[in-house]
This record gives sequence, C-alpha cells and structure tokens, in this order.
Amino acid sequence: MLELSPVMPVVVVDDVADAVPVAEALVAGGIRVIELTLRTPVALAAIEAVAAQVPEIVIGAGTVTTPDEAKQAADAGAKFFVTPGCTDRLLEALFASGLPFLPGAASVSEAMRLAEHGVTAMKFFPAEASGGVAYLKAIAGPLPGLRFCPTGGVTIKNAPEYLALSTVGCVGGTWLTPRDAVAAKDFGRITELAREAAALR
Ligand code: 3PG
Repeated sequence: MLELSPVMPVVVVDDVADAVPVAEALVAGGIRVIELTLRTPVALAAIEAVAAQVPEIVIGAGTVTTPDEAKQAADAGAKFFVTPGCTDRLLEALFASGLPFLPGAASVSEAMRLAEHGVTAMKFFPAEASGGVAYLKAIAGPLPGLRFCPTGGVTIKNAPEYLALSTVGCVGGTWLTPRDAVAAKDFGRITELAREAAALR
C-alpha cells in the first residue's frame, strides 16, 4: 500500500457531490490512491460513490477508530483502512476484514506492539507533533524492518525530507485537497497539487 503513491491524500468531504470530482481531479494529477476520512456524516456515501464511479483510484477509508466503522467502510466499498492509532479490538477487526490496513503508531512501543502482530507498514501519526524526520531517523536503528507513512503536519515543503528516509514508504496529508478548494469546487487546483505531489518521487 505504501508503494501506490509517494503521497496518500487525506480527504475530508463535506458534500457527497464533491467526492467523485475530487477523486477524478487526483487521478488527473497522477495520484491513484485516496484516503477518504470518516469525519463527516457523508463519508460512507462518498466512499461508495468513488468506489462505484472512479475505478482508476484505490479508495480507502481513513480515521477508522472502531470495528463498526471498519465494517461500514468495507461495506461501502473501501479497499483499505487507515487508522490514527490502534486498540486490540480494532486490530482484531482489521485483520478479520481481510483488507490491507495502515494502523497509526506514534511511539516505539506502539510500533513494536503492531510489529508483534505481524504489521510492518504503519502510519506515523501525528508526524510533525511527534518528532518528525528526526524521530523517524532515531528509531530506524532499533526498528529497521518497519515502514512508515508519516502524516500530520506534512506538506509539499517537508515531504522530500521524509521521503528521503529508507523507512518511509510514502507520506500522507490533507494539503492536496484543501477544504476551501473542495468547498469552492476548485478541482483544477487539486489536480495541480496532485501533479506536484505525484512528482515527489
Ligand atoms: C490525518 O488525519 O491524517 C491528519 O489530519 C492529516 O493531517 P494534515 O492536515 O496535517 O495533513
């Protein structure tokens, strides 16, 4: 999953009608994966619309925090899950789903706990607030087998520093789909931002 794109666009959709044009705008810019977050009442309908109408993009559900949310997202057509952190119940549900998932970890112990369960790819969240590039460099020694998708405070400016690390598979962020651009239906701007992000690696 970390190999699909240098950037995992983290998308918040307030109006379900925006989901398909946002996904198409990302595809037009060369980004073929989308993490649609379960943060608005229309999120599941948005996942369903993208899954049905934009086959060029791999649609995942983000901000999955409970087993129920994982089930609902899978039923809506999500092909993978991203979580901000992980609990025992959630991890069990994610494995049971049979779908790929990127669970969140922000500390060495959280990462080690996931690794104990066989998870080697995880979201490093919140990346900047947790120590950013310096933190990831520091833990690469003791945890060489793990790969991360740093998310939270990552931008087009600092993304190259993260992507230069051997333990970083991709970065995640909302900057490709600014909420104001989505609200203004400025899908051309999203394509431009996607093109810039797609060229990062
Ligand atoms: C996430 O849920 O992954 C973060 O909210 C993304 O953070 P960002 O807005 O700093 O990219």
